[in-house]
Amino acid sequence: MPLTYQEAVEEIKSRLDIVEVVSRYVVLKKSGANYMGCCPFHQEKTPSFSVNRQKGICYCFACHEGGDAITFLEKIQNKSFKEVIEDEAKNFGIELPATIGGGNFSKKKTAALEAMKKASEFFTENLFNSPDAEFAREYLKKRSISDEVIKKYGLGYAPKGYDELQKHLNTDISYLETAGLVSKREREKGYIDRFRNRLIIPVKDENGHIVAFGARALTEGQNPKYLNSPDTILYNKSRILYGFDTAKEAIKELDSVLICEGYFDAISLQTGGVKNAVASCGTALTQDHIRLIAKYCESRKIYLAFDTDNAGQMATERSAELIKTAFGGLGDIKQFDSCYVAGGGNYSCEIRVVSPPEGKDPDEFIREKGGNAYIEHMLNAPLLLDYRLDKLFSQYSSDMSPLAKNDLVAKIIPLIEEIKNNIVQNEYVKRVATRLQLDEGLLLREIKAFRAKNDEFEEPVFEQKSQIVTKSSNFIEKMQKNLLSVLCTNISDDNRSELIRIIKTQKIEEKNLKLLAETIDKIVFKSNNTKEFIQELFNEFQENNEVKDIITDLIYLSKSYENLTDKEIQTAMFETKNKIELFRRREEIKKLRLKSKEDNGVNGEVQYQITVNEKLKSENWRNNQ
Ligand code: GTP
Ligand code: MN
Repeated sequence: MPLTYQEAVEEIKSRLDIVEVVSRYVVLKKSGANYMGCCPFHQEKTPSFSVNRQKGICYCFACHEGGDAITFLEKIQNKSFKEVIEDEAKNFGIELPATIGGGNFSKKKTAALEAMKKASEFFTENLFNSPDAEFAREYLKKRSISDEVIKKYGLGYAPKGYDELQKHLNTDISYLETAGLVSKREREKGYIDRFRNRLIIPVKDENGHIVAFGARALTEGQNPKYLNSPDTILYNKSRILYGFDTAKEAIKELDSVLICEGYFDAISLQTGGVKNAVASCGTALTQDHIRLIAKYCESRKIYLAFDTDNAGQMATERSAELIKTAFGGLGDIKQFDSCYVAGGGNYSCEIRVVSPPEGKDPDEFIREKGGNAYIEHMLNAPLLLDYRLDKLFSQYSSDMSPLAKNDLVAKIIPLIEEIKNNIVQNEYVKRVATRLQLDEGLLLREIKAFRAKNDEFEEPVFEQKSQIVTKSSNFIEKMQKNLLSVLCTNISDDNRSELIRIIKTQKIEEKNLKLLAETIDKIVFKSNNTKEFIQELFNEFQENNEVKDIITDLIYLSKSYENLTDKEIQTAMFETKNKIELFRRREEIKKLRLKSKEDNGVNGEVQYQITVNEKLKSENWRNNQ
């Protein structure tokens, strides 16, 4: 009797050997209980990628990528869970139920790809020849987009009618639905073309296959301005960068990449000579995007070229932080331009921000001033640190209020504190002191105070020993992960019960972590050993990659507990719990201070002291455990 899908998945999982699977892509070397190799998800020369056969997972200590065998295959091949299962079923000669697997899935995908290609040809043909597209042609002319560029990027026009594409393609409608080209009508029967009376921009994957369309409105009042394909079996917007297929050679050659916001920015940039430009197209930059870039850009020199408006500035900050997190484990981010400083040169990444003072988006800028003028700005683009400082400096005026100045300085201090090189840091201190008319010694003391406060909340000692850093930047989240990770190692029943109790009392904000904590609570007592527990966890979240990533993180975090005694583990648990509480209280007090200042003006400080004292007395929190 053939297996059910679930049974087949179980069978495949039990037969897959993580060491064998990873070895298909990575040269592994045995090292103690683990295997080590160079991480296939980012460029590196010293191995940080670890594979653990007993636990059935792999993990990169530098970029945190990893997972069980199936997750690994999904990520490395950019495939879905089902596709991997299908491949492995073939490998092992396991028959999948016809409704789900078999040739069905890839057949669907092939058909969808074919539909996208045909649709794109139809749209382009329309753009050049349909009388209805006159307006679209005019529009492109106004944007100075030549026929050559139209052809190179495969631009097109989607006609006005409700079913013109369907009629033209004349194929099984389910393929068009799978590809996201049509949507079901709400009340009546049948389907309606997704893109109508819009300018079409095909979105291609790394290999040049059309996987989605971006469609720009052409007339006033046509909303939204850009209508994009939904996520489909072909397209996952958090993995695809627009223009990557035409930029990837240049990215490799120039060893740098420029990330902008819009389709037309990317087209204008590439056409204007910035051949390594790609666009994120309306979605926030993700780790997957960064990985795609890292694959081609060894030195990870990244130019951020978002719009200069508020949204663009926020996107710049968010993306910069994301990039820093992605490469943080690999070393320092380049903070200053100089070849004379000792220790310089070996950076994990370099982030520069291109924002011409004219404040136009790259497309408008290039249309007005040309590609070379843009490249000039690019060559002079400041590093992230200088960009951030300049932005803050511009908020300074000599007659600002003392409080406003204090707030401004408070934003600058963390940036300066982050500078690793002391000499460079000192230079920046001088620069800030001069620019903001501040006493240099005072600024230095403030920086020290800031550092001391931060150090209090460094990871517990037992964690530092094993040099493990987690993905989360948020302190509480980090500590909560730490707590959960203890469950992924062999601990005594007493410790386990105590730990579950602690976890239950935690207020977990991150939604995936919360979900995980709730599930752990359900399954922890059902499994007989750590291995079973981990397998159960992966099973539970089979299709949820975000949670699976957290599980992998936890398992590797748990390594730091492996050689500890029960007593030491217990101490570590309470230490972590207390750190969380202490941190929460500090935050609360900070809020109180702010609030009493707002409420009571000059008397606020006094009021605040009284409130805090009362709070301290009532909770006696300093002595708490
Ligand atoms: P043009 O006006 O054609 O030059 O577009 P733009 O790229 O300058 O547009 P904008 O700065 O408004 O948006 C930047 C990018 O965000 C666009 O290229 C789109 O990818 C995306 N975007 C903009 N508006 C929308 C929208 O309404 N929906 C979606 N899904 N994406 C949008
Ligand atoms: Mn624009």
